[in-house]
Amino acid sequence: MPSTRKPQRLVVLVSGAGTNLQALIDAAQDPAYGATVVAVGADRDDIEGLARAERAGIPTFVRQVKQFTSREHWDRALADTVAAFEPDLVVLAGFMKLVGEDFLDRFAGRTLNTHPALCPSFPGTRGPADALAYGVKVTGATLFVVDRGVDTGPIVAQSVVAVEDDDDVDTLHERIKVAERSMLVDNVGRLAREGFTITDRKVRFGA
Ligand code: GRF
Repeated sequence: MPSTRKPQRLVVLVSGAGTNLQALIDAAQDPAYGATVVAVGADRDDIEGLARAERAGIPTFVRQVKQFTSREHWDRALADTVAAFEPDLVVLAGFMKLVGEDFLDRFAGRTLNTHPALCPSFPGTRGPADALAYGVKVTGATLFVVDRGVDTGPIVAQSVVAVEDDDDVDTLHERIKVAERSMLVDNVGRLAREGFTITDRKVRFGA
C-alpha cells in the first residue's frame, strides 16, 4: 500500500567511498520509496562519497575536526549544519567519527548507523578484521539507532553473511557491503514509509 506520509528528509554523513549513500540515492529516485536525500555531509574532503552526491545534484558540506578548536565545537557545528537541512532521519553511512552529546541531543532516536558486523559482536572500526581474526563462520551487517555507545544502539535490522575459508579482510568486507547496502535501503525505506517506535531497545515498524 502506498504510504500517505510525506517523503522523509534524509541527511547522510559519509567518510569514504559512499556505496551505501549511492544505494540510498538510487532508491530515492522512485517517489514510492518514501525518502529523499536532501544533503550529504562529510568529515573530510576529496572523497568519492561527496563526489557521488555532487553528481546527483545533492548539496554537500564538510566539517573537519581540525577546523575547530575542540571536538565539542566540531560536534556543535556539525549538528547545526545538519539541522539546517531539517532532516527527519540522519543516516551515518560509513561515517568514521563518533558524534557527540550535542549531536545526539538534537537527533536522538532518529540517527541511524550501519556497522559491518553482527552487533553486539565486533564493535568499532575493525568489524570485518576482528570477525575474521576470531574465526567466526558467519558475520554480517547491523542497522541500528545511534545511542551514546559504540555500535550499541537499538537494532533495526541485521543481515547475515558467511565467512569463507579463503577470505581476507577485503573480500569479507566487500561481501558484507553487498548485504549491508540492501539491508540499509530496505529498512530506511520502511522506517520512512511506516514510522517506527523504540521500546525497551526493541525497534518496531509502524507509527
Ligand atoms: C561500510 O561497511 C560501513 O558499515 C563501514 O564502512 C563501510 C563504508 O562503505 N563503517 P561505503 O563508504 O558506504 O562504501
